[in-house]
Formats: sequence, C-alpha cells, structure tokens
Amino acid sequence: MIQLYLRFLERERSHPIWLSTGLLDYCGAALREAGLEGMVALVSDTIVATYHGGRIRRSLEEAGFSVLEIQLPPGEGTKTLDTATVLYRSLAQNGIGRDGLLIGLGGGVVLDLSGFVAATYMRGIPFVGIPTTLLAMVDAAIGGKTGVDLPEGKNLVGAFYPPRLLLIDPTALHTLPPAEWRNGMAEVIKAALIGDPELWQQFRSDPARWATIPEEGTLMDLLTRAIAVKIRVVERDPLETRGEREVLNLGHTFGHAFERVSGYRVPHGEAVAVGMVAASVLSAQLGLLEDLDLPRQLEVVLEGIGLPTRWQAWLARCGVDATPEQVIAAMGTDKKRRGGRLRFVVIQRPGVVRVDKDVPYLAVHRALEETAHP
Ligand SMILES: NC(=O)c1ccc[n+]([C@@H]2O[C@H](COP(=O)([O-])OP(=O)(O)OC[C@H]3O[C@@H](n4cnc5c(N)ncnc54)[C@H](O)[C@@H]3O)[C@@H](O)[C@H]2O)c1
Ligand SMILES: [Zn+2]
Repeated sequence: MIQLYLRFLERERSHPIWLSTGLLDYCGAALREAGLEGMVALVSDTIVATYHGGRIRRSLEEAGFSVLEIQLPPGEGTKTLDTATVLYRSLAQNGIGRDGLLIGLGGGVVLDLSGFVAATYMRGIPFVGIPTTLLAMVDAAIGGKTGVDLPEGKNLVGAFYPPRLLLIDPTALHTLPPAEWRNGMAEVIKAALIGDPELWQQFRSDPARWATIPEEGTLMDLLTRAIAVKIRVVERDPLETRGEREVLNLGHTFGHAFERVSGYRVPHGEAVAVGMVAASVLSAQLGLLEDLDLPRQLEVVLEGIGLPTRWQAWLARCGVDATPEQVIAAMGTDKKRRGGRLRFVVIQRPGVVRVDKDVPYLAVHRALEETAHP
C-alpha cells in the first residue's frame, strides 16, 4: 500500500490518501483502520455501481457497517442542487446524522456532488472519497474542492471540504471506457508539466505506451506522481487565496473557452489537451519558454496518446465552428477587451510554471491563430 498525506490547513482537515491494488475489496476494513464508524450512505452513479458497487457494499457489510446505497444517473447533468436535495432528503429519511458517514464512489461528478452534500448536510458529516476515473484519482478527488453546477455556469456553488480519507484502487480503472482514460491522461500530462519533469520525460520517451492503461506497477507510479504534484500545489495554497493553486489551470483558460463555445459538447480532457498546446505556444511568444521545441514535443506526446492538438481543427471535427475572437470572448467578460490584459498560466520549462496576469490580447490571439490547424 502506498500512503500519501495531504496537509490541508489545520490538522483536523488533513487526511490520508491510500493507494493499493484491490483496495476496493477491503475498503470496509480500511475504514475501520482509519477509525471511521457509523451508518454509511454509499453514493455512486448507476454505471459505477454496476461495476464496483457490489464488492464495496459487501466489504463494508463484512466490516459491520450498515449501508444505504444511493445511485444517481451518470453524467455532468447530475451535479446540481436538485440532486443535492434528493441526497439530503434521502439521508434525513434514513436517519443518517453527524455520526454517520458519506462515501462518494465514482468519477469527478459523484465526488464533487457527494462531497458538497457531506459538507453542507447538518453543517458537515464525515466524507470518504473513492474515485474511479483517472481524472478523479489524480485531480477531482484531491484538494478538498466540492461543488455543483448552476444553469449559469459550472462549479458556481461549492465548499472546501476535504474528505476524512481517500481510497484509490487502480484496478477500478480497468472498466473505464478508453476515451475516459485518455481524458484523464490530459490532466496527468498537465501535472507532469507543472511539477514532475521526470514523468514528462517518461511520456516523451514512449508516448504510445500511455494510450491505454499500463501494467500495474507503472500505473501505480503514474498515479502516485500525478497525485503528489497536486498535493504539493494544494498544500501551498489550500483555499486558492495566494494564486499558487491557480497554476493547476495550465491549459484550462483556453480549454474552458473551447468548452464554452461548444456549449459543453466536447470532452474536458480533449479541451485541456488543445488548451495546453495553445498555452505552450503563448509562453513561447511571450519569450518565457526556455526550450522552443516544447510545443512540438507536447503535440507528439498528445498524438501518441490519442488526444487532439489543434483546437480549430478539433472543434470542427466535433461539429463546432469558432473563431479566435469567439474563443477569447468565451474566456469571460474581463478578457474581452481588445486592448486589455489577460491572465494565463504560462510555462517556462517542464516543472516551472507560473501565472502571468498581464498577457496582451494580441499575444493570445496570435497563439490561437498559430495553433488552430496542423
Ligand atoms: N473538485 C475538483 O477539484 C475537480 C477537479 C477537476 C474536475 N472536477 C470535476 O470532475 C468532473 C468530471 O469528472 P470525470 O471525468 O471523472 O467524469 P464523470 O464523473 O462524469 O465520469 C465519467 C464517466 O465514467 C463513468 N465511470 C466512472 N468510473 C468508472 C469506472 N471505473 N468504470 C466505468 N465507468 C466509469 C461514469 O459513470 C461517467 O459516465 C467535472 O464535473 C469537473 O468539474 C473537479
Ligand atoms: Zn481539468
């Protein structure tokens, strides 16, 4: 078992992260070992429940927990206040109180939503996260951000609420659709560029090796390294008040804009992939990038994994037409003005990134033009 630890503000909000092959089959015992007790509400979506719900429930019951299972429809559409209300009422009707325990089992959607419900129901009940997508294991589950979407925008309502414990079993990924693996890999590449140059070199040396799930040891190493990067960044700026946590948004200012212009019809990981290419070209144009070959190297890695690299060509394949002007407009009202200055995460070299608050509109426009098509 690999054990990591996230120091989140005060001691009481810090928590262990346990990674182990087969952990799902003994999660009940793991919870007991962590000193957790009480009635369990096990929240997942119907897909994850079909694949993994049974063995988790069994393991919990073997460890003496009584379990209330709640299955939600899969997909981003579930991450709403309406669904949160369904959960609150179900907890209340089944007598789960602050001595109970809420487990979120699933991808980022289930973890964000159930973490938010745990944070707010009775002003907070203990929460345990069991992420089952690559994206959730290395990103969504780590760092204590929970929340739901509004019709006006994603993640507009939420709370910082770290879990008591995170349980990560890489074998859960074997049922993941290949496209979801690749989407998660976009965030892993992001993590490598932000804070693990050695992992970045591994991707460079054989990109195709990462197109599908690697063997167990390699997978465990990948997860541990990507999680470690996120832990390091979050620990320096847990509540995102010092701007340091913002570096996790590498490729995301572009990426979110692509998602918005598409009406959220494109996969997030793909948007981040093309967004990172644009961000690396922008960094080069601003004279910040040390090795001007990095954008090309990044494209080779992304192509090897099966991720897109050029935003306009990729959007067209998804049936979306968009101009650079529309993309910049989608970055938000504060970023629309032609003469204005924009805020981006820029890269100096793999492992060294920072926030540039003063990027000229024209530089962004030029980076978009340069990375539109192959
Ligand atoms: N809180 C944060 O810091 C943070 C960070 C990044 C992303 N997020 C959020 O995460 C969400 C995206 O998460 P996601 O990509 O995991 O999406 P998701 O939760 O929708 O999962 C993707 C799909 O995979 C299925 N699935 C999950 N695990 C599976 C498994 N083991 N086998 C087979 N199918 C499985 C799900 O049912 C779903 O259909 C977004 O809402 C995003 O806002 C949050
Ligand atoms: Zn992301």
